[in-house]
Amino acid sequence: MKRVDDFRLQLGSHELVPIMVGGMGVDISTVALALEVARLGGVGHISDAMVPTVSDRRFNTKFVKDKLQQYKLNVANSDKSSVKFDLGILAEATALHVRHAMDAKQGTGLIFVNCMEKLTMNAPKETLRVRMSAAMDAGIDGITLSAGLHLGTFALIENHPRFHDVKLGIIVSSLRALQLFLRKVARTNRLPDYIVIEGPLAGGHLGFGMDWAQYDLATIFVEIRDWLAEQHLTIPLIPAGGIFTGSDAADFLSQGAAGVQVATRFTVTHECGLPDHVKQEYFKASEEDIVVNTISPTGYPMRMLKSSPAIGDGIRPNCEAYGYLLDASGNCQYIDAYNREIAAHPDAKKIRVWDKTCLCTQMRNFDCWTCGQKTYRLKDTTRRTANGDYQLLTAEQVFHDYQFSINNEIALPD
Ligand SMILES: Cc1cc2nc3c(=O)[nH]c(=O)nc-3n(C[C@H](O)[C@H](O)[C@H](O)COP(=O)(O)O)c2cc1C
Repeated sequence: MKRVDDFRLQLGSHELVPIMVGGMGVDISTVALALEVARLGGVGHISDAMVPTVSDRRFNTKFVKDKLQQYKLNVANSDKSSVKFDLGILAEATALHVRHAMDAKQGTGLIFVNCMEKLTMNAPKETLRVRMSAAMDAGIDGITLSAGLHLGTFALIENHPRFHDVKLGIIVSSLRALQLFLRKVARTNRLPDYIVIEGPLAGGHLGFGMDWAQYDLATIFVEIRDWLAEQHLTIPLIPAGGIFTGSDAADFLSQGAAGVQVATRFTVTHECGLPDHVKQEYFKASEEDIVVNTISPTGYPMRMLKSSPAIGDGIRPNCEAYGYLLDASGNCQYIDAYNREIAAHPDAKKIRVWDKTCLCTQMRNFDCWTCGQKTYRLKDTTRRTANGDYQLLTAEQVFHDYQFSINNEIALPD
């Protein structure tokens, strides 16, 4: 029986342990987590979601405060079209975040940044170009394009000096999405260096509709693998979503996957950015506590714990401070939902909004507890302490468990 360590992920000249830890915004996949994964020889991700906020926390910058100050007269206005990101500041925040990771990197692994297209930031193209360019300038090893079809994304950076040297990958959930993407990038004379195939059991936003349960990762993986072979295209494939044990991973590697992308098992490690009390919620969860809903204003279904404080919260939209989901015309679905509830309950001190959430604020405050479907199994990966809490793990333990375990076993911590 094979184990993950019998395989290697070849990305250009890099030979890696075939474990990629997926990006988890906002700062759930921290620099500390990515550094550990790189040290151990795999691929770690940071995320550039809400990077000015992350920079304020880590480096004492005042980007959010300054933006709020600039736009404070607009707070009561439901038209947010004037609330723009300063591209220079966005580049500065990205550079701080990425350099912090790259300067500290040790070992043979790589650090990539997860870049979501759905963070449209009231100027989708310009802000995406700046985010990617600044990350490349700061030395990032690779960029994983996610949460969107990214049909124009390669073109945005094709004149960057690192366009052909940085590793570029895309997350897709269907062969059709991949075909559309490949057709579009053909013009830039550059293929993606890897393709993450994300199935319906993943955490975060899903590339499926509410009928997600009718799909399965293994089927989509085989479909994409066979199609690429027919086209004589050799691009490393990295399945993701619900790969919970080293044996799950080794199964995919035996069928031709180049690596696997995993995330949920790392949410309960010391290095993960979630607060400790939230990590305990993840440990405690049973299958019935996990839901896929449509409260994200991005329009994509999202998986989360039912007990997330974000669900039903009715806070005032915070676009002057954040505004990451404002589309090209300055709209966000949460603003509409919030205004509808305010109009329906003009005298209420506190309103509830159930159909959408202010995702920027909730993710920033770690109050939207997004998670993979297999979160309910996390309790089986650790021990309980005397006070009833679950023992947190180290990223190294989880990484090595994926790398070396067989027979679907999970090694418990000492
Ligand atoms: C807490 C959490 C947050 C996530 N956030 C993002 C994100 O910001 N961008 C993204 O592309 N994927 C995100 N994902 C998806 C993961 O990167 C990964 O592809 C997927 O969860 C792997 O499946 P697994 O969690 O079952 O191992 C997130 C997953 C989790 C668990």
